[in-house]
Amino acid sequence: TKRVAILISGGGSNMVTLARSMTADHPARPCLVLANDPAAGGLARAEAMGIPTAVVDHRPFGKDRAAFESELTRVLKGYAPDIICLAGFMRVLTEGFVTRWQGRMLNIHPSLLPKYRGLHTHQRAIEAGDAEAGCTVHEVTAELDGGPILGQARVPVEVGDTPERLAARVLEQEHRLYPMVLRRFAAGDRDRVDL
Ligand code: GAR
Repeated sequence: TKRVAILISGGGSNMVTLARSMTADHPARPCLVLANDPAAGGLARAEAMGIPTAVVDHRPFGKDRAAFESELTRVLKGYAPDIICLAGFMRVLTEGFVTRWQGRMLNIHPSLLPKYRGLHTHQRAIEAGDAEAGCTVHEVTAELDGGPILGQARVPVEVGDTPERLAARVLEQEHRLYPMVLRRFAAGDRDRVDL
């Protein structure tokens, strides 16, 4: 059984759906939920599910990303994860950290990559007049939101959409897509799925 560490920054709704998906027949188990913010709402949700939690606050490290990431690595090592899932983890990771976990680290991003890497994806899709938006699960490489795509799910952009309304529609699909991709990935299947 593969051990999965889930990294979060906020409410952790994707973390909850990932953790709930790892039932008895699943090739993986959650071993840790780690947040870079002690105020992340997902920490309490993980504790309520009986999953070990940890916090590596990025703020004391200031601009020293390497020092933040070596602390992240130190904590992660203690839980010996086989797979890392970024789930609303809002810190950019440098090449050194990413290389260490390459091929074993997934991320979910709220756009149809390669469109709209980075932030404000829903606002950018609306402003561009796109008919469709969605989410992507990909392997993490040193290129921000640029690694091999493992799956995507699409939703329509509706007339009068706000970024908030579109985000909610996409988030429902994130909760379908990420567990499906993780299950396949943990079983060794890197083929792309499209929902
Ligand atoms: C999700 O929409 C996720 O795709 C996005 O943050 C949200 C986290 O929600 N991630 C990014 O924007 C990564 N750059 P959650 O904490 O409820 O899972």
